[in-house]
Amino acid sequence: MFELGVLTIIGLAGLSVVWFTLNVGISPMPSSAKARRAILAASEVAGEGAIIELGSGWGTLLFALARKYPHRRVIGYELSWLPWLYTYLYKFTFRLHHVEIYRQNFLTAELSSASLLVCYLFPEGMNDLQQKLAGVHGANRYLISSTFALPAYSPVQTTRLNDLYNTPVYIYQLG
Ligand SMILES: C[S@@+](CC[C@H](N)C(=O)[O-])C[C@H]1O[C@@H](n2cnc3c(N)ncnc32)[C@H](O)[C@@H]1O
Repeated sequence: MFELGVLTIIGLAGLSVVWFTLNVGISPMPSSAKARRAILAASEVAGEGAIIELGSGWGTLLFALARKYPHRRVIGYELSWLPWLYTYLYKFTFRLHHVEIYRQNFLTAELSSASLLVCYLFPEGMNDLQQKLAGVHGANRYLISSTFALPAYSPVQTTRLNDLYNTPVYIYQLG
């Protein structure tokens, strides 16, 4: 009976990841170690202020940013329940008081407080983000996007990873 309960919970958790992947349009696949290193290096472009990760997945990048910037607010938005729950528990376990994690669509979130936005999304998600950014104001803000570009913006810098696809990491200055 106990085993059945555990199996049911594992099955439902797995199904929830599949359900969100199909509905959101992207799985919670983490950035590669190379992408993470490139994003961490690129993040130095934005001096101070809060950092927001748009779709923080399992927190691999979020917590790498939190370790690099222990004195800045590091905020993650994630829709998928299981990755969100995992990052939420991780934050409490390791007492990362400067990290905030919300199970929320970042398209409905307040983004103007951040000096740096970071994402690894998908083409349709980048279109939606572009529309959202048109209504977000603030000076000296940057967006770092792994793999996918903002269609109507020109990056101030593009780094190509030394991987199979020469994956691009774009840096945009938003205003
Ligand atoms: C490819 S994963 C990247 C995860 C993490 N950023 C990383 O680099 O390791 C993209 C994540 O964005 C989340 N996501 C996509 N659109 C979202 C939205 N509008 N609001 C919140 N999360 C979103 C997905 O659920 C998924 O977990």
